[in-house]
Amino acid sequence: MTMNVKALDREYIMGTYSRFPLTLTKGKGSKVYDDEGKEYIDLGSGIAVNIFGIADEEWANAVTAQLNTLQHTSNLYYSEPCAKLAKALCERTSMSKVFFSNSGAEANECAIKAARKYAAENLPQLNSVMLTLVNSFHGRTIATISATGQDVFHKDFKPLVEGFEHTPANDIKALENNVKELKPFAVMFECVQGEGGVLPLDKEFIDKIVELSKEYGFLIICDEVQTGNGRTGELYSFMNYGFTPDIFTTAKGLGGGLPIGATVFSEKVAEAMKSGDHGSTFGGNPVASAGALNILERIDDKLLSEVRIKSDYIINELKGAKGVKSISGMGLMLGIETERDASDIIADCMNDGVLVIKAKNKVRLLPALNIPMEDLKKAVEIIKTNIAKGV
Ligand SMILES: Cc1ncc(COP(=O)(O)O)c(C=O)c1O
Repeated sequence: MTMNVKALDREYIMGTYSRFPLTLTKGKGSKVYDDEGKEYIDLGSGIAVNIFGIADEEWANAVTAQLNTLQHTSNLYYSEPCAKLAKALCERTSMSKVFFSNSGAEANECAIKAARKYAAENLPQLNSVMLTLVNSFHGRTIATISATGQDVFHKDFKPLVEGFEHTPANDIKALENNVKELKPFAVMFECVQGEGGVLPLDKEFIDKIVELSKEYGFLIICDEVQTGNGRTGELYSFMNYGFTPDIFTTAKGLGGGLPIGATVFSEKVAEAMKSGDHGSTFGGNPVASAGALNILERIDDKLLSEVRIKSDYIINELKGAKGVKSISGMGLMLGIETERDASDIIADCMNDGVLVIKAKNKVRLLPALNIPMEDLKKAVEIIKTNIAKGV
């Protein structure tokens, strides 16, 4: 007798997710299969996680070798994988120190704590306010929903954590006014707002943040949870904009499918947190770290240039296509605004064997960075057909 997974899930798992009517059982590369054996080309990658696709052999080998050696140590002891991963992360980004956790929200929590502590000790001229952007998304914990600039995530969970204010993305005048008035100790943002609708920030807006930070002394924190690890065609999205933040956070793709979060600190703030200030039982877990090291080592110039080529291919195919209103995003993080309802397109694509997801009212594409061109072409054709349907 086959188990009714959907019924079991609905009965026993708290109903926080509106799942697609699909039970996935296995996959390889950019192909996944449901419980009836139907094949799909996956352009969601578990929301920007499986950046080398499903069951990637090199990553799986790194993970299983570590799994069969030492699966967990706690942070009471030293262990090699997380030390090596921290070195690689710092060397690739010119940063100085890393704190490891298990998710994007936790990486941001750590950034918020560290920035608060740094500011309390070093920025007495500034206020205990962190400025984040309207329409941002920084996670689901109480502090990170407070940082998130969308009321929909706030409304049922008040009181929120104090000390967060929001300023509209790409509005330089409002930014200048808010910085002048609030004197925040930090500004935190995603270079491309992912959950907010795949919206890249303007270069001029980011330049202004950098300019104001020099004038006022506030810290710049970049949330690279979704944009990071090659997704936008550079290792981290701030590299597209030519600046280096004081702190950046990442998760999702870094783990390649295992939970990991990293908060990465520049030299300036590297000593902000001291022994006992923060911790995590699983943070820097050897298995997740061994996998992440493998992932990071393989995000090289060749892969990044492939990301940009594939991005151009998708944009060229879909720009101006029937039913497409606009395309936004960067690299392999793209949002398609369509005439048809995005949910209907997503359902039709699923029916035709292509998995895409949603961001606000857009069809969002987050394929594996190494998706074979053949799979991508086939998927884009199906997406194009379903966007044009009935238009
Ligand atoms: C930009 C950004 N920050 C933080 C998060 C939260 O990450 P996690 O779900 O791993 O806690 C997400 C998740 O979508 C995200 O896109």
